[in-house]
Amino acid sequence: MNALKELQNCFQPVVAKYTDQVEAMLNLIRPANDAKFGDFQANFAMPLGKSAGKSPREVAEEIVAATDLSELCQNVEIAGPGFINLTLNDQWLKSNLATAFSDERLGVNKVETARNYIVDYSSPNVAKPLHVGHIRSTVIGDALTRILNFMGHHAKSDNHIGDWGTQFGMIIYGYRNFRDEAAFEKEPITELSRLYRMVRLLIEFHKSTTKLPELKTQLDQLQTELTKLKQKQSVAEEKSAVKKIKKEISQTNKRIADSQDQIRSAEATIAKASEDGLVETADAHQDIATAVLLETAKLHAGDADNQALWEQFLPVCKQDMQAIYDRLDVTFDMELGESYYNDQLASVVDDLEAKGFARTSDGAMCVFLENFETPMIVRKRDGAFLYSTTDLATIKYRMENFDADACLYVVDHRQHEHFEKLFEVASMWGYDQAELKHVSFGTVMGKDGKPFQTRSGTIVGLAGLLDEAEARALVIAKEVNDSLDEAQLKENARVVGIGSLKYADLSQNRASDYTFDYDKMLALKGNTATYLQYGYARVQGIWRKVDVDIEAVRSKPAEFEFETDIERALAVQLLRFEEALTDVLVDYKPNLLCNYLFDLCQTYFTFFSTPECNVKNTESESLKFSRLQLCDLTARTLKTGLGLLNISVLDKM
Ligand code: ARG
Repeated sequence: MNALKELQNCFQPVVAKYTDQVEAMLNLIRPANDAKFGDFQANFAMPLGKSAGKSPREVAEEIVAATDLSELCQNVEIAGPGFINLTLNDQWLKSNLATAFSDERLGVNKVETARNYIVDYSSPNVAKPLHVGHIRSTVIGDALTRILNFMGHHAKSDNHIGDWGTQFGMIIYGYRNFRDEAAFEKEPITELSRLYRMVRLLIEFHKSTTKLPELKTQLDQLQTELTKLKQKQSVAEEKSAVKKIKKEISQTNKRIADSQDQIRSAEATIAKASEDGLVETADAHQDIATAVLLETAKLHAGDADNQALWEQFLPVCKQDMQAIYDRLDVTFDMELGESYYNDQLASVVDDLEAKGFARTSDGAMCVFLENFETPMIVRKRDGAFLYSTTDLATIKYRMENFDADACLYVVDHRQHEHFEKLFEVASMWGYDQAELKHVSFGTVMGKDGKPFQTRSGTIVGLAGLLDEAEARALVIAKEVNDSLDEAQLKENARVVGIGSLKYADLSQNRASDYTFDYDKMLALKGNTATYLQYGYARVQGIWRKVDVDIEAVRSKPAEFEFETDIERALAVQLLRFEEALTDVLVDYKPNLLCNYLFDLCQTYFTFFSTPECNVKNTESESLKFSRLQLCDLTARTLKTGLGLLNISVLDKM
């Protein structure tokens, strides 16, 4: 049930007589900002009036007169210049509530046209430590997959892990040269992760020592340039000249800041290597960067020794990821990593070449694209295939094997250009029917305004993040209710801790960066999982307080009464669940579901704390019954909604 959609359907044929932009006009029907304007407001009379050369009020009157809203609305008012205020019919609300109440899906219809989706998310590069960005991709992708399936689509999740990249060259090199056999025997994951970080640091160390003098010279030059510009500025007179110099000064300042950043980071790398006592090792491994590439190339070429090491390492790395997925309760339909496509890459490139889309340039095989300065390279000069090549093979595979109508890539915004190019190449290659969409997300920031780092960026860091959320939730759980036993408190802390961590991510507009803050995410008030879980638990508390068997309430035919405005407001909000889920899928934004649940919970608490809405002491049995049903439908909506975000609820908090 979607009141907004029904309103749009009623207006559709009438609005179509005024314009061919019907959909855009119907999108101007929105929930009213204030209850005094009714439940919804239609604002299309203004643009329609303009194009018809009539007053918007006149158009509003004509449209209202010609639209049959008798079943849906009990009040239709034209206000101000031509706003149409719509108040839903109480009878209609009650009967739809009853339908929702007796329905497992809470009255949410499935989509008319189901599509096949592949949702590509999480997809970490294994053997590298996971970082918070991976949690972001994981929870957003997981939620979208659940919502798509709930709405009747056929969505399959695919963890496109990076199990074939340079990082394996690094650990192979590290394993051969620096391994601590005993440590590897005891805790292979920790040892591999140490080797990875060590090899990386050695490579970075060499890069930094080579680059540092260049960077310093560059900084000197920039500073000289700045001094000159400032002198020029002090003698410039003409307005336009002053403006130009100012602009140049600001640009130079930016480049100076940039250059200083690079110097700082190079110096930090050098300092870190010396702290770790690695300077001598670095000297002994001058060509480590090239050597690592060579190990990777050998692996890709099928070298038996490297292949054997890869086979030995891969399960170890995966096991580590799995521990995080288990705690997040995330599973995948498929885990077809990059290595899965290995033997298909050559034919992808051959096909692109045969069809005339790819050609050799500077020894590399490239696809040139109109809107991009640089081509997409699909095979390097040395014959190596790239991330892009694998992604093309993956698209082909998904189209051929799953008849995908859409592929969503839940990946960091920094890969924006990669996906733009990829989608363009895929489209020219013939895969132009499916929706290919980069569901991009922003960076997780620390409170200091810099990208959030887990402690020393290690694997322990990410698990540690979950530990910390649970530990803090435990403190809160005890504060909220100290009558629970230790085991229950611990379980509550787990559900609240993990839930709040996920929700903090999901409730943000995914496109923006967001600040990681335990206090905020665990707050009992505000748009947090804790607040919603608390709302759910409070409803469960009512059954105990009123001493009612909720199953008995559920088994009776539903009937609703609105004694007060707030009950009616709660009803309207309850019936907007489908609308919220539909909104999520327009641009794949789970935060719209969070907003909905938050609004619902707030409305519920207003209802809950209004003395006139008391449930326990309501004399009228039918009114009491109606209120119990409203409570129950709220709780079930919260539970289902949170469930679609893969967040659990608790009976007692
Ligand atoms: N492994 C990549 C990374 O960590 C992300 C992969 C995303 N999926 C894809 N099909 N490209 O950066």
